[in-house]
Amino acid sequence: MSELVRLERRGTAAIVTLDRPERMNALSLATVQRLGEIGRELGADPSVRVCVLTGAGDKAFCAGADLKERQGMGREQVRDMLSAYRSELSWLSSSDFVSVAALNGVALGGGLELALTCDLRCASEGITLGLPETGLGIIPGAGGTQRIARLVGEARALDLVLTGRRIGTAEALALGLVNRVIPSTESVLEGALIWLESVTDGAPIAQRAALLAVRAARYLPLEAGLDYERAQYELCLASEDRDEALRAVAEKRKPIFTGR
Ligand code: COA
Repeated sequence: MSELVRLERRGTAAIVTLDRPERMNALSLATVQRLGEIGRELGADPSVRVCVLTGAGDKAFCAGADLKERQGMGREQVRDMLSAYRSELSWLSSSDFVSVAALNGVALGGGLELALTCDLRCASEGITLGLPETGLGIIPGAGGTQRIARLVGEARALDLVLTGRRIGTAEALALGLVNRVIPSTESVLEGALIWLESVTDGAPIAQRAALLAVRAARYLPLEAGLDYERAQYELCLASEDRDEALRAVAEKRKPIFTGR
């Protein structure tokens, strides 16, 4: 029996791998609960700076809800599943570290919604993405309607959600659904880790302040957002790493950050 989801650490990066390739890494209830456990474990560890979420195998990041499990579920169990998506996955967009979906293969339905819950996304060339739920008589129910509209705008979101059409990596990049495409000569996981080296090696207080300030723009009106940005700046101003960075510039060397 597979572990459902694997957790590895590489320095300040955590790597979370959906590991049910025989079901295209689909989200069963146990998989979602395991993701929640991992979120709680990582949330208690202040050394984590980046969390990369990917899928095992070379076919799927995640094919969405486990449709085989879903067939045996009553309506009340489906309601519980929708609540679990919300309670167990929200850490991906609310933790003190940056979360990145490294899309190694298809990201459909709940799989794309999972990726949308992350702060950032990168994708291998030639993958397929989509929200096919309306074709199954439902709508995206793991935050997909809200997150995709905020990310790509209402009209583009409606195109994808109402038609359920599947798109390729190039269109996903053009829409801003993924931040970058990793060439097929590289693994998308390694590509993601290289992309975020400046975060994993950077000044922790500044990185966290920047992350929280940009996230806050999603829900705060501008004046309140500017106040929040100022409060986050104050945390940087009070840090030793800020003084070290200025000294390093003057001394023409790389700064040595301590996280204080
Ligand atoms: N839940 C459970 N099992 C799934 C699954 C899902 N969402 N998607 C795929 N699988 C299983 C298939 O049933 C198959 O298992 P089997 O051989 O035991 O029947 C296995 O994964 C491989 O799938 P298959 O369709 O043969 O592979 P493919 O490469 O031709 O296509 C997909 C892969 C993902 C494009 C295709 O399976 C698909 O479209 N799946 C449905 C995705 C979907 O609608 N998700 C939204 C749910 S809301």
